[in-house]
Amino acid sequence: MTDSSATTESATTQPAQQPTDASAKPGRKEPRHNLFSTMLDAMTDGVMVVDDKLRVVVTNRALRETLLLPPGSHGQPLLKVLQEPRLHEAFQKVLGGAGPCNVEFVHRGLQTRVEDVLVVPLPDHVDYGHRALGVFRDVTERRELDRMLMDFIANASHELRTPTTAILGYAETLAEAPPTDPETLHRFHQTIHRHAQRLSVLLGQLLDLTRLDANTYRMQLEALDLKPVLQAAVEQQQEIAQDSGLSVHLSVPGNLPTVWADRGAVEIIIGNLLQNAIKYTPPGGGRVEVKARADGPARVRISVIDSGIGIATEDQARVFERFYRVDRGRSRQMGGVGLGLSIVKTLVDHLGGKLELSSAVGKGSTFSVVLPRAVV
Ligand SMILES: Nc1ncnc2c1ncn2[C@@H]1O[C@H](COP(=O)(O)OP(=O)(O)OP(=O)(O)O)[C@@H](O)[C@H]1O
Ligand SMILES: [Mg+2]
Repeated sequence: MTDSSATTESATTQPAQQPTDASAKPGRKEPRHNLFSTMLDAMTDGVMVVDDKLRVVVTNRALRETLLLPPGSHGQPLLKVLQEPRLHEAFQKVLGGAGPCNVEFVHRGLQTRVEDVLVVPLPDHVDYGHRALGVFRDVTERRELDRMLMDFIANASHELRTPTTAILGYAETLAEAPPTDPETLHRFHQTIHRHAQRLSVLLGQLLDLTRLDANTYRMQLEALDLKPVLQAAVEQQQEIAQDSGLSVHLSVPGNLPTVWADRGAVEIIIGNLLQNAIKYTPPGGGRVEVKARADGPARVRISVIDSGIGIATEDQARVFERFYRVDRGRSRQMGGVGLGLSIVKTLVDHLGGKLELSSAVGKGSTFSVVLPRAVV
């Protein structure tokens, strides 16, 4: 919303504070002032000038709009305009002769913004005296990205630590005091193997995500016939499904149009959705279905349907986040780290497709991937 009084202030300086130009002819001051304020208002960084009584005397449009400064703030004490003690302290120091200084503060207005401010002294002016200039940079997004990266590293390290510790522990026992009983020995080997496998899957997933993030995942787009790809994916999981007493069914019409996609990406997408469908369906009697059909004139829809534990509404958006698991303990027990669906989501986005989920607790889930048809 534009406040009319704030707009009037876009002249950026108060009349009493306008810079004067001794060489300018009478009547020529206005254009120079306009140039100055237009330049300040065109800047994307925020600008503020504070005088030696710590009053705000200049602000530009970017600053007023980002921090929603109250109208009529020129001439007001800085602490009244922005209740940010750290910013106040920085201006105070610089005006006190401390030299340039940097300060970062979190401004909690209608939106929370993180501002990085460089405060520098201005040359003394014969009329306006001692003043300091603050240049405000909005670093909200950069800080959010930093936070996400730190979270990602913390989660990844945590997940890597569990299997690494287990492998080290069992290997040390085998080297120092190997059990004599063949059954225990076999169990040790199996445990090491299981954790090594988990490490290998996790590293593979992290590598996929890194490649996708860095845009170095090479997509080989082609007119892809889905039937053999889906058949192979189902066959690959059939054995695991049978071990849990589940059956996997595939239904693809003979005249299914080809999609414009990368074969490897589709294999990863369907593989992950199928693994989940099997993993999160209690053993015995359940049924998993993979269906594909044309969806309007330009798209093809592939659905992976299970009759498993389902996902509560409040978790449905979150399951696509990295490392998110509805039931951490259960998923970990099944060898999951919570990366599968985030990889699926990123790949579907890269293919220009859509990913949909409908689910009910205790009834089952349907994950659908909608891909663009190949133009023939
Ligand atoms: N078909 C499903 N039915 C019920 N819950 C599911 C299903 N698919 C995923 N989930 C839930 O979403 C979470 C995230 O799934 P995701 O595939 O990303 O991770 P994961 O299966 O735990 O581990 P992995 O990284 O090995 O795939 C799972 O932990 C599970 O709680
Ligand atoms: Mg998974």
